[in-house]
Amino acid sequence: MRLFERREFLQRSALLAGAAAVLGGEATSMASAAVSRTVSRADKLRVAVVGVRGRGMSHVFGFLKNPETDVTVICDCDEGVISNAMRTVEKAQGKPPRFEKDIRRVVVDKDIDIVAIATPNHWHALMAVWAMENGKDVYVEKPASHNVREGAIMTAVARRTGRICQVGTQSRSNPGMREAIAYVHSGKIGKVELAIGLCYKLRPSIGDVGRREGEQKPPPTMDYDLWCGPAPYKLPRRNTKNGTVHYDWHWFWDYGNGDLGNQGVHEMDKARWGLNQSTLPRSVFSLGGRFGYIDDGETANTQLCVFDYGPQLLVFEVRGLPTKDYKGAKVGNIWVGTEGYVVCPNYSGGVAYDKDGKVVAKFTGGNDQLHFDNFIRAVRSRKAGDLTADIHEGHLSAALCHLANISYRLGEEAPIGSPRSLGNHKIVQEFAAAMLEHLKENKVDVTKTVGRFGPLLTIDPKTERFIGNDAANTMLFREYRKGFELKDVL
Ligand SMILES: NC(=O)c1ccc[n+]([C@@H]2O[C@H](COP(=O)([O-])OP(=O)(O)OC[C@H]3O[C@@H](n4cnc5c(N)ncnc54)[C@H](O)[C@@H]3O)[C@@H](O)[C@H]2O)c1
Repeated sequence: MRLFERREFLQRSALLAGAAAVLGGEATSMASAAVSRTVSRADKLRVAVVGVRGRGMSHVFGFLKNPETDVTVICDCDEGVISNAMRTVEKAQGKPPRFEKDIRRVVVDKDIDIVAIATPNHWHALMAVWAMENGKDVYVEKPASHNVREGAIMTAVARRTGRICQVGTQSRSNPGMREAIAYVHSGKIGKVELAIGLCYKLRPSIGDVGRREGEQKPPPTMDYDLWCGPAPYKLPRRNTKNGTVHYDWHWFWDYGNGDLGNQGVHEMDKARWGLNQSTLPRSVFSLGGRFGYIDDGETANTQLCVFDYGPQLLVFEVRGLPTKDYKGAKVGNIWVGTEGYVVCPNYSGGVAYDKDGKVVAKFTGGNDQLHFDNFIRAVRSRKAGDLTADIHEGHLSAALCHLANISYRLGEEAPIGSPRSLGNHKIVQEFAAAMLEHLKENKVDVTKTVGRFGPLLTIDPKTERFIGNDAANTMLFREYRKGFELKDVL
């Protein structure tokens, strides 16, 4: 027990014992509950939250709310964004956390038990591996990885070091979602042959200042070299004002994975979970484009992805332009069985229907906190099997997004309305036709506007490599910048 904590523990115990003596029975039980909390407080796990501009604040709140954790370090390479996190922690814990700009100082800090990573995607794997190699447990945001190989390396390192590594796909901890998936698995909708994942989320233009003016300046408060980390050092070619240098990295391949690997990875994860698949698929293809505006972004805002799991099919669609829903879901999932189907339009539940569309079951309940709490329970038990979103699951679901993006990026450019053979599945034809209708509704001239038609890539699920396609295999990993190399330990 550290000195400060021991003193605080003794003081609190004495106070509570006094209160119990004065107030009688009720206070006694209150006191003993609080004391047991205080005992664990003395043994609290010390968390460093890394990247606190957006999602990192949810980490701060999540670990502040969990009675077993203290937030002791805030790490961000942009000092301009940290005040909210620093103030929040100080208010909750009575003293400010330490601030560190450089993650390399955090991962070797002996006073840290847990590293919680909410940085851009291109940093996830390297930070997680550094932390685990230095004996820390890790909560890493989704997508677990920025490329396929990273996820496999993270899983291998977690297993070798015995560290606990939770991925931030929080739907997995929600009872409503767990019940819905259990229902899909139970056979009550018959044999499940199809999973649909939807990421219909409005993504407006990010502007074209980069196209017009070229390189822009990062904010003066940011250590931009650290922000780039393993990615090439290139000045941003996008708007960098009013905080946009931050979030908009999602739409650049060096750092992000498009909306497929952003919002989409949540629904991809659930789609695969419902199919009960624990490997990569046999094949993938993807088509789409960035339609409706010309801006600095590189990734697709409209994308159809098809994954072949043998007897099962996973169809995923991204729509970033205004759209109506599909069977009541915009950001959600549908699993279709021989006897019925289940629709989950959110993170915490959904509805099961029979073949005739009659409601037969409903599932509801959950919140973000459960995922942080599940992680902490696994940190205590030391069993990765207690995690609802272990790194291996996170790896597989992120990998699906990466595989589809590889097909998309290798795709042939042609007007998106050009006739194409998309295989024999009726559902794929229907989705492709609906995607064109959706684009027309958004005034995209599909006869002229160029998109990409990705090749059908076959995969060896055992080796997690493409069969007979060197260009695609090269894209399973990346070049790491000097000083930020991720060792391929596989
Ligand atoms: N689970 C969820 O529901 C959920 C929701 C939103 C975002 N996310 C994920 O969280 C991550 C962060 O997303 P965001 O929207 O907060 O992004 P953001 O760009 O707004 O914030 C990222 C923060 O990380 C910091 N950062 C970057 N490199 C760093 C480094 N080397 N060291 C320390 N800090 C560094 C940035 O300065 C910034 O403050 C992404 O991976 C995203 O996919 C998850």
